Amino acid sequence: MRVIEALLGSIDAAALGALCALEIPDHLDGPLPMAVLTEQVGADHELVERLVAYAAARGWLRLDRAGRVRPTRTTRFLRRDHPGGWRAWVDFATGPEVFAALAALANDPTVADPFTTANGSPFFTWQQHHEDRHGTFDAAMAAGGRLHGFALAGAIDWSTVRRVCDVGGGTGALLHTLIGEHPHLHGVVLDLPAVVARGEATERLELVGGDAFVNVVPGCDAYLLVNVVHDWDDSSAVALLSRVAAARAAGGRVIVVEHLRRARAIDGIALRSDLLMLALTPGGRERTGAEIAALGTRAGLRLEREVPLVSGDCAYLFI
Ligand SMILES: C[S@@+](CC[C@H](N)C(=O)[O-])C[C@H]1O[C@@H](n2cnc3c(N)ncnc32)[C@H](O)[C@@H]1O
Repeated sequence: MRVIEALLGSIDAAALGALCALEIPDHLDGPLPMAVLTEQVGADHELVERLVAYAAARGWLRLDRAGRVRPTRTTRFLRRDHPGGWRAWVDFATGPEVFAALAALANDPTVADPFTTANGSPFFTWQQHHEDRHGTFDAAMAAGGRLHGFALAGAIDWSTVRRVCDVGGGTGALLHTLIGEHPHLHGVVLDLPAVVARGEATERLELVGGDAFVNVVPGCDAYLLVNVVHDWDDSSAVALLSRVAAARAAGGRVIVVEHLRRARAIDGIALRSDLLMLALTPGGRERTGAEIAALGTRAGLRLEREVPLVSGDCAYLFI
């Protein structure tokens, strides 16, 4: 049963994608009889019934005793109007290029970069030639960014920081949240030009398009790299961290945020994300605290502190 369940794991993603493609969560403001939901969604009755039955079994929505479909807390997260924006993660993770990369990994785990094998070019290059999918990826990252913004705002002392740069900061969701919580902060987002073009600058939030491997905005008091190091192999990660280390103001900090990977294998998001990186990137991976510290050392940084975040991730504070 363990093996069969594992093999059918991809059904979860497919079902979630189908549920959202039919906008079923968006129609569930309250309990709805199945027939009404089907009519509102405008799809085949049996199709909706089967998807709803699967979703109810997984807790993404609920079927009450009267046979009505009811939203759960999870349903709300799947709606387009949820302020967290997590729906974009469904759109991103159920995209054909992601499924294709996972299939490439399954069929030949020895290839250097399953994403390239499946889609013809590395992840970030491919994105730039598929604007619609790129925008979806950015929106998915922004959902995590908002969460990290709140988590970091409360977990770290920002009183001595004035200017903070988010390297690989996407469209700026994290910094927008962080500087909203700490009005003395000025934020600078550094990401690829096509990405920052989708962001919105404000008086306290600057957007800079560029390649962080070539140039990092100099002179900030703190640099964030959130779920960025895990996209790269060790030597690229060290090169990136070295650029950031060299760019910071005297006494400036570098804050790396990654999923908390334990030395012992424990089932959870870090190990799943590790294999996602295996499928999507050439050499990216989730690392333990000791491995992150070692990368920092190679880049001339010293790990000062590890701060667990309410998001379940870990912030590594380097000086
Ligand atoms: C996994 S996403 C993380 C986004 C965001 N920090 C978060 O936590 O949601 C990696 C980010 O790095 C950016 N990126 C990739 N290559 C880059 C480069 N050479 N220079 C700057 N940013 C880059 C991507 O565009 C993307 O926004």
